[in-house]
Amino acid sequence: AERSYVMIKPDGVQRGLVGEIITRFERKGFQLKGLKLFQTPEDLAKEHYKDLASKPFYGKLVDYIISGPVVAMIWEGDGVVASARKLIGATNPLAAEPGTIRGDFAVEVGRNVVHGSDSPENGEREIGLWFEETEVVEWTRDMTPWLKE
Ligand code: GTP
Ligand code: MG
Repeated sequence: AERSYVMIKPDGVQRGLVGEIITRFERKGFQLKGLKLFQTPEDLAKEHYKDLASKPFYGKLVDYIISGPVVAMIWEGDGVVASARKLIGATNPLAAEPGTIRGDFAVEVGRNVVHGSDSPENGEREIGLWFEETEVVEWTRDMTPWLKE
């Protein structure tokens, strides 16, 4: 099944948006498979965003991600990667549509509250970086027959 790595960044945790953000993924109908509050080591932040290493904002981005705890999550479901990015909204919060997380709760790209994987392949890569195998929980959600025909 398709999985996305979704992370509430330190600004989202500090601003008390954890419940609000989890609620949006829950009520959409995706299934939570992993969840932890986590202080990110610098090496992991650098590895996670390594594709952006040549960007001028890379240093600031790494400092932002390690500036406080994050909430690391695995969400599973058909089409979850693209759908999560729709729920999250555009990278620049001022361009993000109202109704999206960034559109509703943020004003700057450097404080955009939440991360979502940009492809299923990167989802698996990121889940491997952020979670131990023992932290991924296999469980049957009884709600599924009411969501999927
Ligand atoms: P993520 O879900 O966090 O990966 O965001 P994204 O996929 O919408 O954007 P991208 O992967 O291109 O950039 C990763 C993160 O780098 C963004 O979410 C921002 O936090 C940060 N970022 C991107 N562009 C800029 C920029 O121009 N300035 C600053 N300060 N940060 C940026
Ligand atoms: Mg990205």
